[in-house]
Amino acid sequence: MAGKVVIGSDHGGFSLKEFAIKLLTEMGYEVVDAGPEAPVSCDYPVYAEKVAKQVCAENIPGILICGTGLGMSMAANKHKGIRAAMCTNEYMATMARAHNNANILCLGERVIGPGLAESIIRAFMTSEFEGDRHLRRINLFDPQ
Ligand code: RB5
Repeated sequence: MAGKVVIGSDHGGFSLKEFAIKLLTEMGYEVVDAGPEAPVSCDYPVYAEKVAKQVCAENIPGILICGTGLGMSMAANKHKGIRAAMCTNEYMATMARAHNNANILCLGERVIGPGLAESIIRAFMTSEFEGDRHLRRINLFDPQ
């Protein structure tokens, strides 16, 4: 088992959530689906809160998907201890982990296709925080 990850979306990110759950399961992760269960109109802050709470409580990574990834990142970053990064390419995902110790990856289903999403998810899940001066900088805005 590669570890545990919690994932949520709104209606705008539902299809990519289903794709990501399949991918992460194939990668060997235990995937917790925080919802929604169907692509019906819903409010992204509700799912951002569910995922943020589990990420903090269990110290596990999270993934949030909406239409643009923007609303999810704004909502998730309101929660103490959350460093959510909206990424549109693999480099951003790698650096979000390596330099920013991001604990939630935000994606926009209406912005990127599934192929790029897969590369971004793989990069985020397999990159590690470098610590050192980057920890000092994070502590300046989000003391651990
Ligand atoms: C829903 O239409 C859309 O506003 C939402 O998915 C997201 O993109 C918000 O940031």
